[in-house]
Amino acid sequence: MKGRILSGMRPTGRLHLGNYEGALRNWVALQEDYEMFCMIADWHALTTEYEHPQEVRKITKEVALDYVAAGLDPERVTIFVQSDVKQHAELHLLFSMITPTPWLVRNPTIKEQARAMGLIEDEEEVTKINYGLLGYPVLQAADILIYRADAVPVGEDQVPHIELTREIARRFNHLYGKFFPEPEPILTKVPRLPGLDGRKMSKSLGNVVYLSDPPDSVKGKVRTMFTDPMRIKKEDPGDPEVRGCPVFLYHKLYNPNEVLEIEEDCKAARLGCVECKGRLAEKLSEFLGPIQERRREAEAREGYIEEVLEEGARRARSEAEATMEKVRELMGLK
Ligand code: TRP
Ligand code: SF4
Repeated sequence: MKGRILSGMRPTGRLHLGNYEGALRNWVALQEDYEMFCMIADWHALTTEYEHPQEVRKITKEVALDYVAAGLDPERVTIFVQSDVKQHAELHLLFSMITPTPWLVRNPTIKEQARAMGLIEDEEEVTKINYGLLGYPVLQAADILIYRADAVPVGEDQVPHIELTREIARRFNHLYGKFFPEPEPILTKVPRLPGLDGRKMSKSLGNVVYLSDPPDSVKGKVRTMFTDPMRIKKEDPGDPEVRGCPVFLYHKLYNPNEVLEIEEDCKAARLGCVECKGRLAEKLSEFLGPIQERRREAEAREGYIEEVLEEGARRARSEAEATMEKVRELMGLK
């Protein structure tokens, strides 16, 4: 084993291909070499979904099923729900005592999120957001450091949070004695998978393919995908790579064997977008097939996913409590 890693996602909806390519695919590969903790960050979801806590609860279970469906092995990986391990809240509180507000106010990911959600109009108004959302990265630092993780597999947008985690670890170590490691991000290599319309794939933009979408729905969604804007008629030659045709980008990932031929045929105007999309829909459903099969199996086993989460919470709690005992001792709190 190369060390320990932790990562997590907010349960704000069933997982989609963007989540898979941005994180899950990497996690599934890493479980071979690392001791892994995969969390469902339900408290983090409440920073924005606080009006619908019951909804967050429901989605938490869906996300757990998606984790297993994507190929995370509960025998090897500790899969757990953040709020099942109350120690995260205690460490978050203690960290909040040593985190200067300016470290939070300058965080680009939080500013961008608050603006995208319409909570503020201008990124400079970030001090108007709720205290919980401003402190989001402090909770994230607690999530990571409570397991003394060496590394955190995440997408590019999470890097400022990992930076803050390192700063908090350093500050704690300086004040109370060297204890926490300074975890490194492990960045996802594939470029961000765009949504059906070429923008960032996101539930709120309505441009996602869910891991659980059946073939019909995949076909319907792929049909609506944006293509090379210069190809109005089939006779217009395309240039899918240069003009960033999203369909082509998907072919690269889910149909690597035919991608060269598709590029040539598109450029020579031999292949039309309708057929090209039909071929993609098929490959995409082939890719999703085993994921959906594993999900069906997990759902069919009465009480299975609940058991996975209970066992995960037990393992996580015992690690987290061991850390907290040391933290309380270092800080002279007991
Ligand atoms: N902020 C992460 C996201 O939006 C979710 C998250 C919460 C997380 N706690 C974490 C990721 C700890 C990595 C480590 O995707
Ligand atoms: Fe894109 Fe395929 Fe149309 Fe070419 S043929 S523009 S690759 S959808």
